Amino acid sequence: MSNRPVALITGANGEIGRSLLERLHQEGRYDLVTLDLTPLPERYRPLCAETYAGNILDRYLLDQLAAHHQIEVVFHLAALLSTRGERDPELAHQINVEGTLHLLRMAQQLSLRLGRSVKFIFPSSIAVYGMPSLDEKRRLGRVREDQGLEPITMYGINKLYAEHLGRYFMRHYRALAAGAEGAIRLDFRGIRFPGLISAETVPTGGTSDYGPEMLHAAAQSKPYACFVGPEARIPFMAMPDAVRSLLGLLDAPREQLTLPSYNVGAFSLSAAEIAQRVKAAFPGAEITFEPDPARARIVDSWPEDLDDARARDDWGWNAVYGVDRAFDEYLVPSIRARYQR
Ligand code: SER
Repeated sequence: MSNRPVALITGANGEIGRSLLERLHQEGRYDLVTLDLTPLPERYRPLCAETYAGNILDRYLLDQLAAHHQIEVVFHLAALLSTRGERDPELAHQINVEGTLHLLRMAQQLSLRLGRSVKFIFPSSIAVYGMPSLDEKRRLGRVREDQGLEPITMYGINKLYAEHLGRYFMRHYRALAAGAEGAIRLDFRGIRFPGLISAETVPTGGTSDYGPEMLHAAAQSKPYACFVGPEARIPFMAMPDAVRSLLGLLDAPREQLTLPSYNVGAFSLSAAEIAQRVKAAFPGAEITFEPDPARARIVDSWPEDLDDARARDDWGWNAVYGVDRAFDEYLVPSIRARYQR
């Protein structure tokens, strides 16, 4: 192994994980150690110093990881998303809350061992918000970080609580212990993502999945029945921007950060507008709307858009991919190429 610092990525085999892995490998700043329930596909392994297939609930495995690698940055991406979470809320709680607690504990112990704060980068979500009604959703428009925090999904509740756990570990962990004041604590940094759309992968188990599913289906000339109505509107972001935001937050000077978790925005689209763009790119696309009331209700509970002024002010966040660039320069050409391969 090299002298580079080690970054651990949990959930490395997921949507964000694979893109992040490629980007971090290109940058070459870290030796990459990954943990995922499922083994990483062959083509990602050479990017990593070590890959582990295992469960974040396995504390013995986490102890081993911490013992073998001098981890300085944790990207804790492993999670069970919102649709999956409603099918098995207790499992969602275990993975999203207990699993996160295990990782936070590990990062805190590593911080003490290293004598400096391990950075803990945590993707949170629009799912932490809960709009009581469609009227209120329209009225609020772009929500700030402190508005409408009454999530209706187990996943959203878990993410919101995990943000609090992160803030607790960073500021207040074991406040009664001797020497607690001035003790080294981990450095928690959260991002509330919109629905993410990647040209490389289709997400599994989420409720914003209709966006990416529509596109990937059209590119493969498969018909698609959208599980929300045409009017459903939430914010979305292209995956390269999501990865950029994680790295932007990672590199921000600690003293400039004023929130435990930041909104990041890019563009907001209704399902009908996504369908229009998909049809413009793939004229044969067959898209119908067959709303599933329960999943549509979840999407309706999420905000129309995110106010990301704090991220812009504090650490210079700025999406590169507005809606036209996202579709014309990234999604459509990459997805087309992908299915022609
Ligand atoms: N994309 C996620 C989901 O749909 C939201 O963070 O569950």
